[in-house]
Amino acid sequence: MTDALEIISSEHRSMWQLTVMLDELRKQLGKPGGRPDAELFGLILNYIEQYIERVHQPKEEALLYKAVLDRTSEGNDMIAEFQREHADSPELVARLRAQLEALGHHYPEGVAEFQAALEAYILMMRHHIMKEENELFPLARRILTEVDWDQINTAFADSHDPLFGESVRVEFRALMSRIVNQAPEPIGFGLVAEMKPPAEAHPVLLSVENLSSHYGRIQALRGVTIEVRQGQLVALVGANGAGKTTLLRAISGVQKTSGGKVSFAGQDITHCRPDQRVRLGICQVPEGRQVFGPLTVEDNLRLGAYTRCDKASIKEDMEQMYAMFPILKQKFKQAAGTLSGGQQQMLAMARALMGRPKLLLLDEPSMGLAPLLIQEIFNAIISLREHGKTVFLVEQNAQAALSIADQAYVIETGETVLSGTGSELLVNERVKSAYLGI
Ligand SMILES: Nc1ncnc2c1ncn2[C@@H]1O[C@H](COP(=O)(O)OP(=O)(O)O)[C@@H](O)[C@H]1O
Ligand SMILES: [Mg+2]
Repeated sequence: MTDALEIISSEHRSMWQLTVMLDELRKQLGKPGGRPDAELFGLILNYIEQYIERVHQPKEEALLYKAVLDRTSEGNDMIAEFQREHADSPELVARLRAQLEALGHHYPEGVAEFQAALEAYILMMRHHIMKEENELFPLARRILTEVDWDQINTAFADSHDPLFGESVRVEFRALMSRIVNQAPEPIGFGLVAEMKPPAEAHPVLLSVENLSSHYGRIQALRGVTIEVRQGQLVALVGANGAGKTTLLRAISGVQKTSGGKVSFAGQDITHCRPDQRVRLGICQVPEGRQVFGPLTVEDNLRLGAYTRCDKASIKEDMEQMYAMFPILKQKFKQAAGTLSGGQQQMLAMARALMGRPKLLLLDEPSMGLAPLLIQEIFNAIISLREHGKTVFLVEQNAQAALSIADQAYVIETGETVLSGTGSELLVNERVKSAYLGI
């Protein structure tokens, strides 16, 4: 069942990213070369007006605020404040837009005023998000009944609703990724991993301890240790031949191991057969995608659900895949072999998701793709995470993978040699010189 608070929280995280981005842009104003990027600011203001004001706020007011107000007076003051802030937002944003327009003509005159207005807006937004998360959500969890949650969650699950629907979220994810792509390098992509709840909040799903594996006398894995927590996007980066594929195959159970332990959801699966692991919810998207070329997109997706017999929910999941990857919907009757490499990669991921895996293993999804398509694939992976999927991503493209990862590892000749959050590794000197070419 859709968890409405989870969706609102994930929207909050996107908004928080925006405030971090706005704040960085604010600091650059007035510096040499600091003329505001009108297009980027324009996109951000569009996002605020179109998504936050048109969708997010009305949704909160109609559902969450209303339900809490109906049940208790405890939150009255707080909600009145939230509603006031929602109501004030359009005027503040209009003012920012006007100032931005004026700056376009008179820069740097007016920079200080614009910076101050931006800062006030950022603070207001952050205060609002924090207060909702820290005070309103706990109150709602305490006060609202099962019936309330059913109603709220059902509204969110209606995928065609203009406020709650998946199609709306898809539309605005696209807008968000345009913003991220438009932003200058250090501000843009790196931000995607910001503002995640602390790792401890997620239980460990996959744990690999000191794993080794051989091809005859060649040792391909030499004591690999990694951990993937529920709902996280964890990346493993390393050069060609480092042992990435071998590790994924060992996790799937198709590669023999010669030492160490693999646990999944608390269960030791070191000696489980591959099919048992699939049934537990581990699904690997192999290197080079391997979709069934002669079959249609739709049939490929259907094949992904072969372990399931619940027809209705298979149909539902297929719709969800089409919402997540609109291009697949456009081409659903086409033979998979006629799709571009990037589209085949999306199909391979969607097909894997049709089996409702608990853990998705991705082996170099960006391999062999043109830069523009790589961006598209990584946007798709980001959206997997936004849908609450747990993903273990293996990549040679360290820059892209680390930019979106919650946690990450570096593997060298069969050993995990570094670990940290994605953003930590992005600025790590050793990673920079060995993998990022900086
Ligand atoms: N089938 C195989 N037989 C022998 N050696 C292999 C085989 N597959 C991979 N290897 C070796 O194992 C090491 C790790 O390979 P692999 O896991 O494919 O690396 P990556 O996916 O990181 O490129 C490499 O040195 C590779 O040569
Ligand atoms: Mg490989």
